[in-house]
Amino acid sequence: MPELKIGPVCIPHGLCLAPLAGVSDRTFRRMARLNGAEYTVSEMVSAKALCYEQNCRRPAAQARSRTAPLAAVMREEYPMAVQLFGAEPEFVARAAALLESGEYLGCRGEIPPAAIDINMGCPMAKIVNNGEGSALMKDPPRAEAIVRAVRAAVSLPVTVKIRAGWDAEHINAVEFARRMEAAGADAICVHGRTRAQMYAPGADWEIIRRVRQAVSVPVIGNGDIFCADDALRMLRQTGCQGVMVARGAQGNPWIFEEIRCAMEGLPYTPPTLSQRLETAMEHARGMVREKGERVGMSEARRHMAWYVHGVRGAAAARGRLMQVSTLEELAGIFAELGQLNCSEQ
Ligand SMILES: Cc1cc2nc3c(=O)[nH]c(=O)nc-3n(C[C@H](O)[C@H](O)[C@H](O)COP(=O)(O)O)c2cc1C
Repeated sequence: MPELKIGPVCIPHGLCLAPLAGVSDRTFRRMARLNGAEYTVSEMVSAKALCYEQNCRRPAAQARSRTAPLAAVMREEYPMAVQLFGAEPEFVARAAALLESGEYLGCRGEIPPAAIDINMGCPMAKIVNNGEGSALMKDPPRAEAIVRAVRAAVSLPVTVKIRAGWDAEHINAVEFARRMEAAGADAICVHGRTRAQMYAPGADWEIIRRVRQAVSVPVIGNGDIFCADDALRMLRQTGCQGVMVARGAQGNPWIFEEIRCAMEGLPYTPPTLSQRLETAMEHARGMVREKGERVGMSEARRHMAWYVHGVRGAAAARGRLMQVSTLEELAGIFAELGQLNCSEQ
């Protein structure tokens, strides 16, 4: 059984939910936590935007703030990290300090995060063109300066999430991780792909093993965990202290429970169709509560499609699911799916 400790934060089975921009909002994280995830990370948050919004004192602008809610941590979400992205050490450090102080704009009595995670893996052009995300892997001195600045600015644990490297010719995760550790990182999450690989199948777990060998801080392995067996194999092959699941948790928050059972040698019973549909419904209700019906339902659509993936009749219902705009309509579609599967069993 792995033992993962990030600073003072104990994560008993090392089961972490990955940051997923546009996906891992509060409701998604809650569903994962209810089903066994022990540690979660916010969607990535712009350090600069957080600082700028903080400086703007106009109430109208504050009300429109889109950044602060992404960084909000509710008490029941502990232990949750907030992930910052940025290329300028002073901004990332200032944003981290704001988060630790709990005084950033829009904060309504939430708690500070359990850790500050720094994004060094995002492959998107609009991010890397600013020198942020995975572009930092091409600029180790800058990445190091960011970690040092954040380390000096907060007493919270500081973690980094990196990739194998920029591309096949520049695989530098091992040296890079050593450098981040020396700069003060408390844990390192390694996504076993280069930036050039984006999310293509076939993550390289060997690089995770090599990083694990090279540093003394905990290493969290990430990439292509879609079932318990994948997680156990990653732990065995790499020796990492924790696993981080991203796409494997989409529509499947139970993956964490499945992994925990496998770790403990316990039998695991997957959810029945009616449990899946009920959880999906609860997920949609949560999104509506958090974001209102119009935004909540439009964002819930793809989650709903993930929940029913592989269910008989789901492909035919997909068109309607992708346009569903009320909870009532959704309940109707799910009732039909439930009946179809009952009658054909
Ligand atoms: C839609 C999407 C959004 C993502 N957003 C983030 C993010 O905000 N921060 C981050 O560090 N990684 C982000 N990632 C990368 C994942 O956290 C993870 O590293 C990657 O998907 C590999 O894990 P997996 O094979 O389990 O999906 C994102 C990935 C996807 C598919």
